[in-house]
Amino acid sequence: MADYRLPGEWSKDGMVFGRTVAKEAIDRLESFEMSEGEVLLATYPKTGTTWLQELIWLVCNSSKMDLARSVPLDRRFPYLELQLEGSQSGIEMTHLRSETFRMEIEKGKVKVIIGIRNPKDTLVSFYHFYRMTYNLGNFSGSWDDFFELYKTKHMLYGDYFQWYSSWLQYIDKPNVMLVKYEDMHHRLSDVIKGVSTFLGKNLPENVMDDISLQLSFDSMRHNNMVNKTLTGNFNMQISSFMRKGKIGDWKNYFSQEQSGAVEKSYKDTIEPFGIGLEFE
Ligand code: A3P
Repeated sequence: MADYRLPGEWSKDGMVFGRTVAKEAIDRLESFEMSEGEVLLATYPKTGTTWLQELIWLVCNSSKMDLARSVPLDRRFPYLELQLEGSQSGIEMTHLRSETFRMEIEKGKVKVIIGIRNPKDTLVSFYHFYRMTYNLGNFSGSWDDFFELYKTKHMLYGDYFQWYSSWLQYIDKPNVMLVKYEDMHHRLSDVIKGVSTFLGKNLPENVMDDISLQLSFDSMRHNNMVNKTLTGNFNMQISSFMRKGKIGDWKNYFSQEQSGAVEKSYKDTIEPFGIGLEFE
């Protein structure tokens, strides 16, 4: 299983892609210019992308919150490497590393929100994502097999630690904000406030309360506009997209040795940026 290949697999600079991402799309993004005030959400897969997308969209569109119940999130908040022309809404997301957007970030015109989640829960969530996703070949190996893919750095969008090293170098810039999945769990209202301030939106308390309610795991799990039931890319019999939404599920999967290996990479790579993540 360690030599597992995705359907239509190709790779670039250590990032592995499947058939959903065209090489031309990545090449074109390298000369893609963003407009003043545009918002780019950068996340490694399974770190709470959907949760943050919905949060950012609601903060930016608080006067039309009902659309969040009638228009799929993918249409409201597009995925840059899957569509070439950029969006009309001025908010977009990517799972690519920062190199592609270096010029745009350094010019300081765009606002970047980087989402992060502890690497152990991220990997467990990724394992189930590989299993449920047709375009990833519905990975049928065990957790240990999946961990081998991680160890050999053979992962969709590349290695977690390399990915974050590439983005975290920008966290001190005024146009860049870091949001932790675990903070959204414990302090959702504070995160909503922080993101609103960062994006220059001054929202009344009652609107923030409404946003908070729409972002609960239960609300999102039942909202077909965000729970991915409409995409057809997933076998939800294998796992649901809104799977557990918890901190610490990794304890049900990781051996001591696996845990030690990830902790070492975390200490070597994430902690030097002055960032602490919660694991339970
Ligand atoms: P689990 O698989 O651990 O449940 P992404 O959107 O980057 O693919 O991340 C998906 C992960 O975020 C899944 O984690 C999913 O359950 C979790 N998630 C999505 N919405 C959430 C919410 N409102 N509250 C908590 N977790 C959420």
